[in-house]
Amino acid sequence: MNPALATAFKALKHAAGAERSVHLRDRFATDAQRFSRQSVSWNDWLLDYSKQRVSAQTMALLHGLWQAADVPGWIARMRAGAPINHSEGRAALHIALRHPAHKGPILCAGRDVMPAVHAELDKMQRFAAQIHGRHWRGATGEPITDIVNIGIGGSDLGPRMATQALAAFRHPELKVHYVANLDGADLATVLAGLQPRTTLFIIASKTFTTQETMQNAASARHWLVQALGETAVARHFVAVSTHLAEVARFGIDPENAFSFWDWVGGRYSLWSAIGLPLVLAVGFDHFRQLLAGAHAMDEHFFSAPAAENLPGLLALLEIWNTNFLGADNRALLPYSQSLGLLPRYLQQLEMESNGKQVDRQGLPLDCTTAPVLWGEAGTNGQHAFYQLIHQGGRLVPCEFIACRQPDFALPGHHEKLLANCFAQSEALMRGRTLAETTAELVASGMAAEQVALLAPYRCFPGNQPSTTLLLPRLDPFSLGALLALYEHKVFVQSIIWNINPFDQWGVEYGKQLANRLLPIIEGKAPTEGLDSSTAGLIAACKS
Ligand code: F6P
Repeated sequence: MNPALATAFKALKHAAGAERSVHLRDRFATDAQRFSRQSVSWNDWLLDYSKQRVSAQTMALLHGLWQAADVPGWIARMRAGAPINHSEGRAALHIALRHPAHKGPILCAGRDVMPAVHAELDKMQRFAAQIHGRHWRGATGEPITDIVNIGIGGSDLGPRMATQALAAFRHPELKVHYVANLDGADLATVLAGLQPRTTLFIIASKTFTTQETMQNAASARHWLVQALGETAVARHFVAVSTHLAEVARFGIDPENAFSFWDWVGGRYSLWSAIGLPLVLAVGFDHFRQLLAGAHAMDEHFFSAPAAENLPGLLALLEIWNTNFLGADNRALLPYSQSLGLLPRYLQQLEMESNGKQVDRQGLPLDCTTAPVLWGEAGTNGQHAFYQLIHQGGRLVPCEFIACRQPDFALPGHHEKLLANCFAQSEALMRGRTLAETTAELVASGMAAEQVALLAPYRCFPGNQPSTTLLLPRLDPFSLGALLALYEHKVFVQSIIWNINPFDQWGVEYGKQLANRLLPIIEGKAPTEGLDSSTAGLIAACKS
């Protein structure tokens, strides 16, 4: 940690001692202006962090981390295409994927990447027009009715989540399905409802070597070839990858391959051709709006000071909760059915990016990094795990997301949804004391002995920190901005933690071991050298 950061951390550690002893309900009771001082707006968005366990003084110290860690310098390096993903020797230029053509060049290793970015977008647009216009025909001459995206991780989670999030904007006739899991159940259940004649597969893989995707692609190819013959592959398979030679080896016509670049990380790739299934699901114009929303958030991130910077504030508040109040997790609670897959998407974005053990110099970290992210759409979560958040005795910082307007306007639903969302954050903040609970039960006419017996069960400690992000509505523009917000939040945290958020070496070891175990499970290699548990499990499967 650099000396300026170490000093800032020390001051925050000191502040945490005092902040811990102040209950959130008292903060509100003693400060009528708390909401107006601890909430910020951006366009028609509102970020309310008044229910976080921070005072104005602590916020000022947190803002100090921004400069101490040189966030502006890192933003400049990102924008200049510097190899900030140093362990892989690459730039991280996902911001270029949503950079409008008229705004000039973005350089990577001295070359402007924008012409290639826009050429690829144009190709996606032409392809979508062919599919939507029913000009693209399958091998038997029929139009395509179903798209199956085969990919995993960043080649699946983004478009899958966004397709659900933008359900209100879906193309009326085309159905888009997603297959990711190596478990054959995933592909088999999707294929069960489809006809080879009218199905088009998108094989999406940055590397085009990922075991899950390659196995699913091979099985899908087999399913198609059995029904329509080998020559049908060209009309029923397209691919998205950075490795076009591998795509050609699979038998996909290079004309039908969409490319992106090594400076786009898998979990940052929704904006590239990896977004093709989303383009097909909602149309290219909506995809453009998604890019515009992300770009608007990029501009905000690049220019707003720390105290008003939405990604910055989310990053700093989580650093506060994690490194100073001791939280080891964060619950993401979108009060939006359409954002139901957002927690899963953000699990990859946040935990694969910032779940690291060494700093940028390769030295062991002297602070904890990404907390465990979990969550579920409200109100479903209320009937599953909220009990633990309210009374389980753990520190669970919560992040609520709500929209002022519904994306599916059924009378009577949205007001109740908002009431539940705000009631939960209020209850988590306020809690209910024994005296309040007792008074309430007495007022309800309950006998004194019953009151004494039941009151302890009905108390809530409160003081559970939360943030609420209020969006105007869920549409392509706001979704784009929301996802870019989280990308930049992750970046800011990585800067302060001094880690590289753009590599993911931690997922490699398991892959390596799986490759070593496969021949043993297939009976082609002996179990010698394995630990007794792994050998025992394999033996049990074979017996
Ligand atoms: O899980 C590891 C990972 O490399 C992710 O970072 C990536 O999004 C995913 O695998 C899929 O990789 P690919 O797109 O190369 O198939």
